[in-house]
Amino acid sequence: MASYDLVVIGTGPGGYVCAIRAAQLGLKVAVVEKRDTFGGTCLNIGCMPSKALLYASEMFEEAGHSFAKMGVVVPKPSLDLPAMMTFKQQGIDGNVKGVEFLLKKNKIDALRGSGRVLGTGKVEVTSADGKTQTVEAKSIVIASGSTYTPLKGVAVDEKRIVSSTGALSLGKVPGKLLVIGAGVIGLELGSVWRRLGAEVTVVEFLDRILPGMDGEVVKQFQRILEKQGFNFKLGSKVTAVDSSGAMLKATIEPAAGGKPETLEADVVLVAIGRIPYTKGLGLEDAGIKLDERGRIAIDAHFLTSVKGVYAIGDVVAGPMLAHKAEDEGVAVAEIIAGKAGHVNYDVIPGVVYTTPEVSSVGKTEEELKQAGVAYTAGKFPFTANGRSKVNQTTDGFVKILADAKTDRVLGVHIVGREAGEIIHEAAVLMEFGGSAEDLARTCHAHPTRSEAVKEAALAVGKRAIHM
Ligand code: FAD
Ligand code: NAI
Repeated sequence: MASYDLVVIGTGPGGYVCAIRAAQLGLKVAVVEKRDTFGGTCLNIGCMPSKALLYASEMFEEAGHSFAKMGVVVPKPSLDLPAMMTFKQQGIDGNVKGVEFLLKKNKIDALRGSGRVLGTGKVEVTSADGKTQTVEAKSIVIASGSTYTPLKGVAVDEKRIVSSTGALSLGKVPGKLLVIGAGVIGLELGSVWRRLGAEVTVVEFLDRILPGMDGEVVKQFQRILEKQGFNFKLGSKVTAVDSSGAMLKATIEPAAGGKPETLEADVVLVAIGRIPYTKGLGLEDAGIKLDERGRIAIDAHFLTSVKGVYAIGDVVAGPMLAHKAEDEGVAVAEIIAGKAGHVNYDVIPGVVYTTPEVSSVGKTEEELKQAGVAYTAGKFPFTANGRSKVNQTTDGFVKILADAKTDRVLGVHIVGREAGEIIHEAAVLMEFGGSAEDLARTCHAHPTRSEAVKEAALAVGKRAIHM
């Protein structure tokens, strides 16, 4: 029987990063993956394909709408959707092969098949042809990820009623796309298909979009999306979708109940959140406990209720983000190797990759108010940022929230082009416990959009220069 120091189940961003870090630390490692390719949800059907389509569809829209005003005269662009899907697939292939290369380079064994935990020290692997093998493992890390949350009355067929997976591979641009859920997936994939020509309506249960993100940022962002052509039905829920006719017919009710209305759509995207994926892992038999929301319960060191079995990523509590899973992968590998692995959950950036982007790190204004923390807010709009002005991309602003007494930065929220890149200087600053004054006194290159961050930091002390 093959024997390892560590067996990792799942090769998403949590699993493969954990395996590599453990191998770097001298452990003998194997990964178990049931999908044909490595990289998990993120590389195959999540982060990466969605970003390829966001990029390609943004270029399509820019070519059609923004080039002419800069004097770049091109014929009206036409869409070759199969070519765009090939572009997406090439990106996926490049990344998943990259993971395969890294696993080999780090001498990590890849066991193809579905992994089942038999208890402390043993994993059973069942390959696609039904053959099983059992391997020994001093430690086991479960990184099995998540899947979409199903919605009662709206059965996903991945053709006309789709989850994000189907929405990344539609064969043609829907005339009307109905998105259920104004979260990250709904707005990103809604953006892709709107840019390619779909009429997009988003039905959201709450009375706001992107719950959890800073309210002021989200309000402005919603207005921007509406200008782009998004229709929102907030405070509403879809109770059923009738797929018997040529057009889908969705029944929509006010969230609190009331008179229903019917909306027709060519495609319905169900994007109401994701749930941990624990099927086939044998958790119950192994005695591995779940928490009240069906996630694998772990302690502060990622240890489950069974000795030697750890869990990380989407299958445990916390934001369902690839970089959170990666950092947990590194931390748990270090802990298993006898070191002091740690994740700072207070400084995990979040980005919505629309145009403009929305990014955030640390506390929102709502969270600070609720916690009774006295804070000062500094804001700076991109309309007053020179680089944004010359590029005529002035939507959005930077907001910095600092402790009123100590000036320590507690949260940074940005809506604007490249917000997902700009946010990282705030993350580094916060990791070091820096203040708004530190940021304000850091020289920023001119002309850059990042200067808006410095100006927002100056605005915390009421001394922004360009406003
Ligand atoms: P996963 O990536 O889900 O990987 C789990 C792996 O485990 C899978 O390959 C699965 O096949 C395998 N597995 C499961 N059970 C078994 C078993 N029993 N045996 C063997 N293998 C098994 N996050 C971001 O940070 N940025 C983004 O831009 C972003 N975009 C997204 C877009 C979409 C459309 C979606 C759906 C998600 C997106 N996410 C994004 C979220 C991100 O994909 C997840 O947070 C991340 O993939 C979680 O990593 P993980 O390693 O925990 O699990
Ligand atoms: P989400 O949690 O971001 O948003 C779901 C939305 O659906 C919420 O606004 C919620 O109020 C709403 N909702 C719930 N039930 C509803 C109902 N019955 N009717 C109408 N609305 C309803 O979930 P989403 O968009 O599915 O994404 C799942 C997760 O995947 C994200 O939370 C994120 O962790 C990850 N992700 C991250 C991305 C990124 O980092 N850029 C991109 C895509 C996904």
